[in-house]
Amino acid sequence: MAQIYARITGTGSALPERVVTNADLEKIVDTSDEWIRTRTGIQQRHIAADGETTGDLATLAAQRALEAAGVKASELDLIVLGTTTPDIIFPSTACLVQHRLGANGCAAFDVNAACSGFVYALGVADKFIRSGQSKKVLVIGAETLTRMVDWNERETCVLFGDGAGAVVLEASEEPGIFATCLHADGGFKHLLYNPVGVSAGFKDEPNHGVRINMSGREVFKVAVKTLDSLVDETLQAAGMEASQIDWLIPHQANLRIIEATAKRLNMPMEQVIVTVDKHANTSSGSVPLALDFAVRSGKVKRGQNLLLEAFGGGFTWASALLRY
Ligand code: COA
Repeated sequence: MAQIYARITGTGSALPERVVTNADLEKIVDTSDEWIRTRTGIQQRHIAADGETTGDLATLAAQRALEAAGVKASELDLIVLGTTTPDIIFPSTACLVQHRLGANGCAAFDVNAACSGFVYALGVADKFIRSGQSKKVLVIGAETLTRMVDWNERETCVLFGDGAGAVVLEASEEPGIFATCLHADGGFKHLLYNPVGVSAGFKDEPNHGVRINMSGREVFKVAVKTLDSLVDETLQAAGMEASQIDWLIPHQANLRIIEATAKRLNMPMEQVIVTVDKHANTSSGSVPLALDFAVRSGKVKRGQNLLLEAFGGGFTWASALLRY
């Protein structure tokens, strides 16, 4: 029997309308455009309007991906959505999006792997397709992470933005996803976390204590080191050489982390998709947003090999090596 691959047949993305530049942030906190650009590569971010939710962005991105794939929502047999900022506690955002798309009846669930959410979701969806369980799957990464941002804290508020991206995966004899690698180490929780929740309880603080706690310098160091070994592991899992990769599509958190990974792969920055300048860190939204931008701008073409990777709170880290 021929090998079944999960193949991306359509991509889509969505961003809130409102753009906030570094100069805008200079008016809120003690920071500068120069500091933000040189430390992170970020120039601007999109921020959701009041009432605009993760589900709104996810639905729009999904509709665009379905349209690009020429797949009707009713044909889907699975929706996996990576997010850390669900609209409500339950039902899952995947269920809310499913209903809005008109895909009622198919399996739908969220994956919370912080910034690695989309790549985790892609890994899960790949297994469903390879096993023969699913034929047409919608995979989404969507966040309104700025809702967790403390706008008085310059160390974190300059880093994040809102957005969503989606892909349609279909079972195919043509490759396809070659390999996915998913990892986590909960021992690093203290370096990047949001301390409150339904079970642990909320706090009598602004925003009920919902805020990102991050030790930036430590996160940076572990991210660079971890992504280094992840790249090697992924190439080995796919039985490929770094020279066979056409495009690196990394998590868009910090340009310096991205450059370190590209260097490890011996790839010039011309082969790296960078959107962190325009979108900042949109967590689960970042990789599928970058992918959709690369596809729609004509950079990424059919038949090319793409290496997707992400790193986030947990820590979690994940990759996918695929032929587009
Ligand atoms: N504007 C101006 N100054 C700022 C600032 C801001 N927005 N944020 C921090 N600073 C200051 C610090 O207070 C510090 O001042 P000090 O030297 O007087 O104490 C100085 O800048 C340097 O801080 P440092 O933490 O050493 O900077 P850095 O080079 O490590 O860059 C990050 C900070 C956060 C940009 C960087 O560590 C990073 O990107 N880390 C990874 C974060 C990440 O990607 N998180 C998400 C993972 S999914």
